[in-house]
Amino acid sequence: MNASDRIAIRDSTKNQMSESAEKPRIAIGADHAGYHAKEVIKRYLFEQGYPVEDLGTWSDESVDYPDYAKQVAARVARGEEQLGVLVCGTGIGMAIAANKVEGIRAAVAHDPVTARAAREHNDANVLTLGGRVVNDAQAVEIVRQFLDAKFAGGRHQRRIVKITELDEERVRE
Ligand code: RB5
Repeated sequence: MNASDRIAIRDSTKNQMSESAEKPRIAIGADHAGYHAKEVIKRYLFEQGYPVEDLGTWSDESVDYPDYAKQVAARVARGEEQLGVLVCGTGIGMAIAANKVEGIRAAVAHDPVTARAAREHNDANVLTLGGRVVNDAQAVEIVRQFLDAKFAGGRHQRRIVKITELDEERVRE
């Protein structure tokens, strides 16, 4: 199956989802540096009625962010949740790790404009952010913008197909 077919299947799943459910399912994870922000974001998501799967960590005891990135990214890639949110100190490590999982487009965003563009232009399916970079209110606003935005398609679709082809080239190597 080529990249366009796979995107078409995913898009039809997305359409079914939007017809049958109001809110996408969200997988969320953090390391110790993102734990506090993760809890704040989780509370916001629950208040807004999003179904949330919290994959930890559940304290500020030191852990390794790739373990949490892998769990969240794998669930999103398998379609168990439609979107993911990952928090570490800077958002960078989570993005690097999550983007190793086939089908994941993880974007670091520390402002609302970037968070919106990540969905509208890049069809990002995972948002990453840094608990040491943003405060609670900023974290919530970034998540709100990311979730409210929709992929714009059009010229951006062609570029997403090319990104998906990179996944396939990596598998063949
Ligand atoms: C942990 O100290 C820190 O390195 C991690 O949370 C993250 O910022 C990595 O990108």
